[in-house]
Amino acid sequence: LFAGETEFLKGVVAMSGLPPADRIEVCFAGRSNVGKSSLINALTGRKGLARASNTPGRTQEINFFTVGTSHYLVDLPGYGYANAPVAIVAKWQKLLKQYLSGRQTLRRAFVLIDARHGIKPVDEEILSLMDSSALTFQVVLTKTDKIKTSEREAVLAQVRAALVKHPAAFPEIVLTSSEKGEGIATLRAIIATLV
Ligand code: GTP
Ligand code: MG
Repeated sequence: LFAGETEFLKGVVAMSGLPPADRIEVCFAGRSNVGKSSLINALTGRKGLARASNTPGRTQEINFFTVGTSHYLVDLPGYGYANAPVAIVAKWQKLLKQYLSGRQTLRRAFVLIDARHGIKPVDEEILSLMDSSALTFQVVLTKTDKIKTSEREAVLAQVRAALVKHPAAFPEIVLTSSEKGEGIATLRAIIATLV
């Protein structure tokens, strides 16, 4: 799948702007700065495809990328950054809710969690939204290059314990580093096998 062409298709700010639901879709959700855009770049092998930056909240739109002709990868706006204006937060929360519950072809949401921090209260909100949307989500730990091998079990245990409360959770947790390439092939394979 990922050997095919990848392209940025469009940024969407309203449900009316969504591209036709004519292929398999997966989305990437997570706190601002958790590494969503970097992960999409690593998956597609194209460094500058999704804009990664040090400025939290850079990705404000729902960004659609095509992978070959069969899949969309969707980069969702990051949540949980301190300086976001209330009106903007409310606007995209509404859009996010509509998107997560109303998109027929959306097969799975990947919820990215910083391996250094584990699941925080702000993440719980989006996990509950996935439960109520009956959307299967899978946790992807990011930036594993920033923790010691000895710290892995602790974060995995914390995440597993948090997932028990969420009926929409897919049990397997994927450990990734966009920087070092860990878990990228695994995640590609997971996406490629969704039908
Ligand atoms: P928003 O678009 O603001 O929601 O952020 P994002 O989730 O798209 O994060 P982004 O990919 O822009 O990455 C944020 C910062 O984390 C950047 O400085 C990246 O270089 C860094 N980063 C992302 N992934 C990794 C990783 O695997 N390891 C390390 N060490 N840094 C990473
Ligand atoms: Mg981003």
